[in-house]
Amino acid sequence: MADFLPYGRQSIDESDVQAVADTLRSDYLTTGPAVARFEAALATASGAQHAVAVNSGTSALHAMYFAAGLEQGDEIITSPLTFAATANAALYLGATVKFVDIEPDTGNIDASLVEAAVTDRTKLIVPIDFAGQPADYDALRAIAEARGLGLVADAAHSLGASHRGRPVGTLADASSVSFHPVKPITTAEGGAVLTDDAALARRARLFQTHGITKDAGEMQDRDEGPWWYEQHDLGYNYRLTDVQAALGLSQLQRLETFVMRRRQVADLYDEAFAATTDIHLPARRDYSNSGWHLYVIRMREAADRRPLFEHLRATGIGVQVHYLPVYFHPYYRELGYQRGLAPEAEEFYRAAISLPIFPAMTEADVMRVTESVQRYFTG
Ligand SMILES: Cc1ncc(COP(=O)(O)O)c(C=O)c1O
Repeated sequence: MADFLPYGRQSIDESDVQAVADTLRSDYLTTGPAVARFEAALATASGAQHAVAVNSGTSALHAMYFAAGLEQGDEIITSPLTFAATANAALYLGATVKFVDIEPDTGNIDASLVEAAVTDRTKLIVPIDFAGQPADYDALRAIAEARGLGLVADAAHSLGASHRGRPVGTLADASSVSFHPVKPITTAEGGAVLTDDAALARRARLFQTHGITKDAGEMQDRDEGPWWYEQHDLGYNYRLTDVQAALGLSQLQRLETFVMRRRQVADLYDEAFAATTDIHLPARRDYSNSGWHLYVIRMREAADRRPLFEHLRATGIGVQVHYLPVYFHPYYRELGYQRGLAPEAEEFYRAAISLPIFPAMTEADVMRVTESVQRYFTG
């Protein structure tokens, strides 16, 4: 059988290896000068004024929600077509989650349904840029402003993408990103909060290191000496290490190349499937330029999903399904969420398969996938 082709894969080159090796030989292993350099480079690359690096995309969500003021008894509005972390991070803070259905073609939250879901308890609207395509920020921003809500994005898929020419990182009050290996760039594990809001960035920064400040100007009690520091909030150890930041810095230099290559792969898929009526191709919106984290096809007949998935896996093609609606998980069921809550997200889940897409994919890899899909349908 041909080599296994995963649905996503990191691109590591010698410059990445060298950057990590150099850091291992330096004075700093955990948070040090490389993290500061990575944060500055992330801010430049994303257009955000502040970047706070943390040790995962999940930590970034947690720190972002905290920094945006989410508290016990508050509610967030988000879509169920996401990884559980988007919702879990709200639960960590004692908040609840209201799931609003998706646009059936993009998989992004349906902005036209958000207004009706707002209650007195709603604090944040949290779009996920599904598969790397920015959500409908114009509509979401209008609702957030009209109702006095925060708009914070789970941009785990979309670093390097843009909306009306503006980069991800500038589209919401704050955006969280992930550097897991299949994501736009990697630090093995890692994430960041991107924002123009200095106070929000400061709160996120304190949160990722126990809520402790060493800033003399911020001390509440008498500064007893150079050793003095104070804890002002209940935070965590969510720090990124210098070893990881060195990898991130090196990767960030190739972000544009990575995204460009993903776009080429997506175009090749679109072309190869142009005449195929058995599947829906990923929808594109003219207001956004996707980062193509995922290439998700949907079966015209949901009954084809499982056999096609099994057929592709049997030929060594590492397809996946993104996502089972978060409230399908038994943990969420026990919280009282029931199937039927978001019919479009459930329909999307039943019909979806994520095909391989990553920067190092070759045209031959793409052909192998498209031919294998076509073989299933033509028998
Ligand atoms: C939409 C979404 N949100 C959050 C996360 C969590 O990121 P991480 O795995 O870096 O904690 C992921 C990644 O798995 C994701 O896909």
